[in-house]
This record gives sequence, structure tokens and C-alpha cells, in this order.
Amino acid sequence: MEMNSPVGPNALDAQGIVGKPLDRVDGRLKVTGGARYAYETQQDNVLYGFVVEASIGKGTIRSIETRAAEKAPGVALVLTHRNAPAQGTGNHREAHPVLTGPQVTRYGQPVAFVVAESFEQARAAAYLVDVKYDQSTGKYALRANVAEARAPKSSDAQAADSAVGDFTGAFASAPVQIDVIYTTPLQSHAMMEPHATLAMWDGDQLLLHTANQMLNQGQQAIATTLKIPIENVRLISPFIGGGFGGKLWVNADAILAAIAARQLKRPVKIALTRQQIFHVTTHRSDTIQRLRLGTDRDGRILAIGHDVFSGNLPSEQTYEGAALQTRTLYAGPNRLTRHRLAPLDIPVASSMRAPGEAVGLMALECAMDELAEKLDLDPIELRIRNEPSEDPEKHIPYSSRHLIACMQEGARRFEWDKRNAKPGQIRDGRWLVGMGMAAATRGNPLHLSKANVRLDPDGTATVRMAMTDIGTGTYTILAQIAAEMLGLPTQHVRVELGDTNFPQAAGSGGSWGAGSSGSALFEACNALREKLARTAGMDPATARFADSSIASGEQSKKLTDLVGTGMDADGEIQPGRNNKDFSQQSYGAHFVEVGVDEDTGEIRLRRMLGVFTAGRVLNAKTARSQAIGGMVFGVGAALQEEMTLDPRFGYFVNRDLAEYLVPVHADIPAIDAIFLAELDNKSNPLKSKGIGELGICGAGAAIANAVYNACGVRIRDYPITLDKLL
Ligand code: MOS
Repeated sequence: MEMNSPVGPNALDAQGIVGKPLDRVDGRLKVTGGARYAYETQQDNVLYGFVVEASIGKGTIRSIETRAAEKAPGVALVLTHRNAPAQGTGNHREAHPVLTGPQVTRYGQPVAFVVAESFEQARAAAYLVDVKYDQSTGKYALRANVAEARAPKSSDAQAADSAVGDFTGAFASAPVQIDVIYTTPLQSHAMMEPHATLAMWDGDQLLLHTANQMLNQGQQAIATTLKIPIENVRLISPFIGGGFGGKLWVNADAILAAIAARQLKRPVKIALTRQQIFHVTTHRSDTIQRLRLGTDRDGRILAIGHDVFSGNLPSEQTYEGAALQTRTLYAGPNRLTRHRLAPLDIPVASSMRAPGEAVGLMALECAMDELAEKLDLDPIELRIRNEPSEDPEKHIPYSSRHLIACMQEGARRFEWDKRNAKPGQIRDGRWLVGMGMAAATRGNPLHLSKANVRLDPDGTATVRMAMTDIGTGTYTILAQIAAEMLGLPTQHVRVELGDTNFPQAAGSGGSWGAGSSGSALFEACNALREKLARTAGMDPATARFADSSIASGEQSKKLTDLVGTGMDADGEIQPGRNNKDFSQQSYGAHFVEVGVDEDTGEIRLRRMLGVFTAGRVLNAKTARSQAIGGMVFGVGAALQEEMTLDPRFGYFVNRDLAEYLVPVHADIPAIDAIFLAELDNKSNPLKSKGIGELGICGAGAAIANAVYNACGVRIRDYPITLDKLL
């Protein structure tokens, strides 16, 4: 059922259950250990695998000596390119072939997989595998190889370039100009749960308990890689300990375990170690971004240009889309955005939370701050002057856009009027205190999702779909939607996710999870309501569902009296025309106060506030959690996170959570996130928009702008560490 028209009033508009700050329905399972993650799945007769990583960046395996490992206690198999099967290929989203030959294309590439009776035996034997390499010269650092950057082939993503009007001419003649370069570092997802898989075969049927954000895509990629029919592959992933994009695509753990389990005819389990995650899985590319903004004397943008360089393996086309938001956030007649990709011999770069905007806004929103200062305008006023009336590149209306309201409400709550526009003026003891703000925006995609909802004679409903919950609250919002639509208490709704035997779902990623899966469930519930109404002899259009009953006029009937032995219905949502006819984004404004130690340059956050609009909020508590989590991600991006690459050898030096720094509780001050009321009746039947990535978008820039306001030092090279301020 394609959604072609704006969404009119519907059953959710009463807002009885949906929207409420309901506690997570899976919360108890999570805090009591009842939620079973992939590696915790118990299985008889299981073997354990351990990955041997390549210890060079580029070259060829000259010899690989496995005999000592094979003779080590408990070892069942040492898999290398010599005894691994032929596999299907594709980019990192399509397939994940392993141990394909002697070629080493990146540091950390699996070169052997040791399987033993225990994890310790596998790990010990892995160190006995002796690999000799012929090294060749690799290209590792983005900055050193930017001259080789090329336009990526963008078949599945948005076009790499966009141009409107005459950017070059308009920028050259603009009375006020900003031309700055911002850089962001290599980043790692650093989710809590490592990548893990338990693989087992029953004949030609493969079952994988695996941590994966998008099970249906994963099922396809595994089938492609192993060259088996997709219906022979089942993925189970009911709980995932964070993903942030690192588990969007199938990783080596799943394929290695599947291959070994097939050869050994026994279940094989693997978890990557924390250090292995950094090399064996994906990361976010570093970026070099040039921002050019040209305005008239009143600050109206005449020309806006954003050039982005990122890196990836030569075989990959995925680029960090850091200029994507620049195409839609502000008005201006002359525009140019370009993405260029440098081929590098380092692990695969891929999506990390808000791929594109997260680091793009760290450049754009700081350049806007620089522009405001140059124009002697308040940063909010500058943005108001450049508020577009329609999408400035697509020339289509916004589905809904309340950026100005977010900025104004945030300014009021944060007491923005107390900010001194001149840096370095406000003190609190030894701290120089500053305030900064930035806009937030993130696209709102919708992806194919299906759902089944069943009402049983005991009065409980069961929702099933191959959706995932990566910690975001999917179980909870789906329970709320079904409860509201069917007039049931929430505790009478059981939500079963994370199994490819259930109806296909969009999975968790790109902020599309709740909107896509929730809309599919909404449609399934609508279909079930219709069946129930017809069974009750009532008009589906006017029937009301409440108190586990259906009512029409004076008439009321218990649902349990209508369902017989059980009644179910399917629902489906596909991206419809609305995604092309309307420019869809969620919006927000970040406000930050920092202190900078005047002697040491130490930066401490003092206050953070995010004010957002994202259509209907499905659960006030989980939404706020998501927003705050995103803002904390922004703190990491602005002040701490950085994978350090050794440019000589192409490996990441700081590959653990002791040295790859992420914010901890002590780093986070008074922080709050609020959502302004909004319904987007163009987005989807729920009238919601994605929120999973909105909080990170712009948060880092607001921090950087606050640091500048505090001490007058503008750092354009993230993360902003104290050494750079001195
Ligand atoms: Mo997100 S980077 O699409 O998990």
C-alpha cells in the first residue's frame, strides 16, 4: 500500500498511549540478564573461533605456517585462504568474503581463523599461526593522498555533487566571504557489545545468532557470500548492545563462523575482541571539508559551497556525505557541494551514526558562527535571515520545518541573551566561560517494512517483524502503537523482533527504524481493526477501540468474543511519493556552555540543551534518551574521539576504550533535550520523523562555538583538545 497522499487524521491522533513516557517494555530483561545477546546464546557441542589479523597494511602472504596451531590443544580447524571455500563478492554492503587469497588489502584483514574447543584454546593457537608477508607500499593517510581523490560512483547513495546557479561567480563577488577548512578525524563506533555470532547448520540450513542491525540485508549478504539460497539463511538478533552503524552490514564474524561450522559440522561461536573491532569491522572516515559562504552585507547567503574529502578502500564507493545537509539547510541562490573519495589501503570506511551530517554540521555550523561574527550578527539571527521557503536545491516544499521555533525556544530556556558576543569576556574563577549554538538537521528516510499482528483468545496481541532494537526502544514504541490501535493495555501486547522468519523489516539504521517499522505495524493494526469491525458487524470507519473492546454508537463488544481461535493481519509500508514530493528532515537547535581553563586549556562542559522537532514523538522517555545519547556522541566528536592512524604502516594505534576516548559520566554536565510538539502529516502514517541521529547532528559544532566564545581560539581541526587551545 503505497502512501501517496498526505496522511489525514487517524487513530493515533488521540495520543492515549503513543507518546507517553512509558518505561522500556524490555527494561527488566535487560537489567536482570534476561535479554540474551548473540554471544550469550547457549548451544551444546559448540566450538569457539578466534581471528588472526594481517599485521601489514598492504602486500601478499608469502607463507602461512599453521601446523603448530593445528597441533595445539583443543584445536579443530585452522582456516586460511588455502582451505576456505570460494565465495560471492560485492561491496561491503552486498557481501563479505573472507580468506579469499594471499592478497592483503588492509591492516587487520582476517588471514586465518582458528577454531577450538574453548575460546582460550582458540586464542592461544591463533598466536601460533606464523604468517610471512611480502609488503608493498600502501596509501594510508587521507591528508597525504587527497590529490588522488576522485568522484565516487554513487549508484545507491545520493549523487556526490550538486550545483545550483553560479557558485563560483557569486562567491567571488560576494561582499562578505568565509573560506575555511575544517577537518574531522577517523572515528570508531565504540558500541558496548562486540560483534559476535553463533553459527550452526542443519543440513543446508544456516542459522546465525548474530548482532546485526538490518537482518534482511544481512540475510541477503550472507546468502550472496556463501553462494546459497537466501531462504536457507536465518538470522536471529533479538537484542543488540548498540550498533551506531557498525553492525549495519555483515562482518567477518558471521561469515567465518558460518564457514567453519559448515566444515566442522558443529556450531561455532565467535566474538571479536575490543581491539579487533577497530580493524576487522568498519569505521567513519576522517574528512577534510572546505566551506565557502558568501553573503550580502545583511548576511543573506548569495553563495554556499561545501567540498568534502574522505577516504575508503579502492574497491569501495561509500563516502562520508558531509555536505548533504548543506544542500537543504539554508537558503541561497548559488550552491555547490562536492564529495571526493581518496583510495586508501586501510579498513573499510562506512556508516557511523548520522553518516554525513554528524561531521558535516561540525564544519557548516562553525562556519556559520564565523560568518555571524564577521557580520556582527547574532548566530540565531543569521540563521533566521537564511531560512528557506522551500528546499533550495530540490525546489520542493518541506514536509514540516520548525528550525526557527527550536532556536527561539532554546534561546529562551538557555538564557542565550546573557551571551557576550565578544569572546573571552566572561569568567568564573579560573574558567573562561562561553556559550555556543548550532542548528541540527537530519534526513528522514522511510524503508520497506512489513508486520504481522495477531490477537489471541486470551486477549493478548503479538506483533512480529524482522525488526531490531539496538537499544533505541523499538520494542516499547511498537507495543505502544499496537496497544493504542487495538485498544489494549500495553502489557497485553507482546512484541517479537529480531528473526528473519518474521515479516521483512527495515532494520535499525539511518533514523528510519521507528518510522518504517511503526508504520508497517500501524497498517497491520488498521487491517486487523477492519477484520474485527466486520466480524462485529460494525462500520470499520467509525468503530472505536478501547478497553479491549470495539464500540460503535451504543454497541460494544469484547475483542476476545470476536477473534475465534485467533485473528491476525499483515501490514506494509513502502517509501511513497511523499519522499520525493517533500523535503523531509527533522530539526533542532543545540545550546552549549563551556568553561575553558585559562592556563591549561582544559575544556569542561557546563550546560547542554537540545530543542528538537521530529514529528510525533512516539515515546517521550525513549525519545529524550535518544536525543541525549546523540548529544553525548557529539561531545565525543567535538572533544575526544579520534582514531590515530600510523601513516607509515596503516594501522590504528589506539584501538581500545582506554585510548580511544569517549565521554563518560563525569564529562557530561547538566544536559537536557526537549521536543516541541509537531505532527508531520507528510512523513508516514505515524506522522513521526526519525530521531536516532538527530541529537548528534550539530551538537559538536555548538560545543566548538562555545569554546571559541569562551576563549577566542577557533579550532578547525577536531577533536578540540587542550593542546590545540594553548
Ligand atoms: Mo546508522 S549509521 O544508519 O546505524
